[in-house]
Amino acid sequence: MKIRQLITTNFRNFDALNIQFSDRLNIFVGQNGNGKTNILEAIYFLIEGDSFRYSRYDTLIQENKNEAYLRCLLENKDLDYSLKINLTAKTKTFLLNDKKVSQSNVPLPPLILFSPESLNSIKESSDHRRQLLDQILVQTFSYGKKLVNEFKKALKTRNKILKDILQEKIDREMGIKTLESVNPIFIRLAAELTFMRLEALKNIKPEVQKSLHQIHTENQAEFDYSYIISEQSFKEVSKEKIEEFLLKRLTELSFAELKSGTSLIGPQKHDVLFLYNGKDSRFFCSQGQQRSIILAFKMAQIVYHHRVHGFYPVLLLDDVLSELDLAKQESLISTLNQIETQTFVTTTDTTFLKKLHMEKSQVFHVSQGAISTDC
Ligand SMILES: Nc1ncnc2c1ncn2[C@@H]1O[C@H](COP(=O)(O)OP(=O)(O)O)[C@@H](O)[C@H]1O
Ligand SMILES: [Mg+2]
Repeated sequence: MKIRQLITTNFRNFDALNIQFSDRLNIFVGQNGNGKTNILEAIYFLIEGDSFRYSRYDTLIQENKNEAYLRCLLENKDLDYSLKINLTAKTKTFLLNDKKVSQSNVPLPPLILFSPESLNSIKESSDHRRQLLDQILVQTFSYGKKLVNEFKKALKTRNKILKDILQEKIDREMGIKTLESVNPIFIRLAAELTFMRLEALKNIKPEVQKSLHQIHTENQAEFDYSYIISEQSFKEVSKEKIEEFLLKRLTELSFAELKSGTSLIGPQKHDVLFLYNGKDSRFFCSQGQQRSIILAFKMAQIVYHHRVHGFYPVLLLDDVLSELDLAKQESLISTLNQIETQTFVTTTDTTFLKKLHMEKSQVFHVSQGAISTDC
């Protein structure tokens, strides 16, 4: 699935945009503050129905305007169709070939976003690393998305009961009974999600290793991972064993949960450690090595997606290149150029292009809300 064209009116700092994309690499070059990220945001908004930055709808609409329009032309197996969003400060309306639809009825390409935040997820909080894992589940398996959402709902319900008990909004005994009635489903979903994360890690590991060697030609590091539940490392374990362990922790932590008013067990508390030559990369790796691992992990996610579905997701790389040294920029871009993925990159500097022989790429210059191309 490819995005052929983007047309916008009154979106962010662009009065009007009309860009025809390359099937492969699309590079947006320009100084900061000119609108490069806004273009990626428009693509993301059309596909995901939301922004990747904090954005109320009114901030997406150009200043002093009441409405914005975004449209993209998509191609899926030789079939062309148009997806449009009409945006006001409070509403968004989806139109498929100019007919109103709900977003869930539109066939959309999977998107993978690389941002400086994602590149830094080794040194960030465990939340970032969990997101990295869950994104694989959501994007690679239709069941993954359902599971992640169902677990979130079950967690919310359970946390609400625990909070109500703590704040004495419900009778304690009644509350504990309600808690006991939701525990079995919570544990089942928690075990399933944990198991799926472990399976994804196992499947993706050889690809991460391969990508890491491509990025780090100078030193062939060995990649491994360790999935942590309650300070214990898990790998190659059955769903039943995970469920057993979670149930044991549920009993051990029941008092602490009532006291804190929140769930202390479950995948929302787990972590994944990336091991570099057997050592915890959080403490033993330079920032450059940490970024290489995440880069390799993301590249592996793309290859894994291709292995499962037979096609690549669309990639958005926002401001990522400036975080990498020149050799890594070249290695990343040439790898992306070799695989049949459609990629959108923003950058202030195009030095990396000099050494590369790029085919099927298109450079767009972005300057104060206007776009121009080389040819
Ligand atoms: N709703 C809006 N109306 C007009 N301009 C906007 C709006 N939202 C953001 N901008 C402008 O967009 C520019 C930032 O664009 P951005 O894509 O983040 O730049 P960069 O090229 O650095 O990625 C800023 O100049 C900002 O003032
Ligand atoms: Mg930007």
